[in-house]
Amino acid sequence: TTVEWEAESYDMGGHDTYMHKEIVEQVDAVDRVLRGRIDDRFATVRLGGLNLDAREARTMRRVKILGCGSAYHAGQIGAQMIEELARIPADAEPASEFRYRNPVVEPDTLYIAVSQSGETYDTLAAVQELKRKGARVLGVVNVVGSAIARETDGGVYVHAGPEVCVVSTKCFTNTAVAFALLALHLGRIRDLSVADGKRIIEGLRKLPGQIAEIMEQEDHIATLAKEFADAKSMMFVGRVRGYPVAREASLKLKEISYIHAEAYPASELKHGPLALIEPATPTVAIVPRDDLLEKNRATLEEIKARSGRILAVAHEPQEKADDTIVVPRNEPELDPVLMGIPLQLLAYHTALALGRDIDKPRNLAKSVTVE
Ligand code: G6P
Repeated sequence: TTVEWEAESYDMGGHDTYMHKEIVEQVDAVDRVLRGRIDDRFATVRLGGLNLDAREARTMRRVKILGCGSAYHAGQIGAQMIEELARIPADAEPASEFRYRNPVVEPDTLYIAVSQSGETYDTLAAVQELKRKGARVLGVVNVVGSAIARETDGGVYVHAGPEVCVVSTKCFTNTAVAFALLALHLGRIRDLSVADGKRIIEGLRKLPGQIAEIMEQEDHIATLAKEFADAKSMMFVGRVRGYPVAREASLKLKEISYIHAEAYPASELKHGPLALIEPATPTVAIVPRDDLLEKNRATLEEIKARSGRILAVAHEPQEKADDTIVVPRNEPELDPVLMGIPLQLLAYHTALALGRDIDKPRNLAKSVTVE
């Protein structure tokens, strides 16, 4: 069984689908998750409901993030942000895997449950198991007062507003931003400098305007999507910050278009999946202008050599790619937030070209509240 779909109660606001409405709404949604939280004086953020004192923030040795589906991918982005900005070892795992493997629960690990609905059974069960073992568990949740929000010790609300489409868009993006806030907060209690704190804050403030810029490319993306609609299978590749972006983009495409898609770390291509590359299997590559740019360009060459079609998502047109979606530059730590957005539009327009039921894909539910 699943949570009742209450689409009727929300206005579609002139859009043909909730998904489209929710993609466009990201400009405002990201503004909302930032609002009232930035503390310029100390180059940090204030998170009212976190319930984690500075001493705990300083002494924790590890962060473990748990979630399902898109929430898990947002958690992977969050884990990288926490490692980068707060230098605390962090990783994300599907909540269901975690709870079935009798995990070692360490006292100085902070656990974070991620969920749009706050009702996903696997995530809730992981929270309950952790609480039973005496762990400290926070939530990064969208729905206020939901089960996971109630059962965790504190956390960060995502403030994306109601999300109706089965697949997550604005909530995914807002969750990634909420993690940036948490990582900045933890970082500034630990070793992140004032200068770096200010740099991230400036980057955060730029996000809504930059998301609006990405939306202006919708026609271009829709044209590209039509070309991908007859692909039998697609590859999504990225390195480090780009990898969770590739995974989420691949999930999104398969959920709503039913085109088979795989996501791989770009460096792993040569260890197997390169065998699949041929003209009918296009690749989407995440290629930010960061310290891995040359490595990513080498990957584009490897794909091109096998005559695979390439769409790059990058900060400037990529010579080896057949097409590039250019996204605005921000601070490198925030690249995952922006680079995922054009790929939501790509999945959307591919599914639209194929005539799919975008808001209610077959076999899927918005909230899976049973095992
Ligand atoms: C379902 C949905 C996914 C979602 C996942 C987790 O499988 O189809 O889109 O990401 O649940 O949902 P949650 O509410 O916990 O974020």
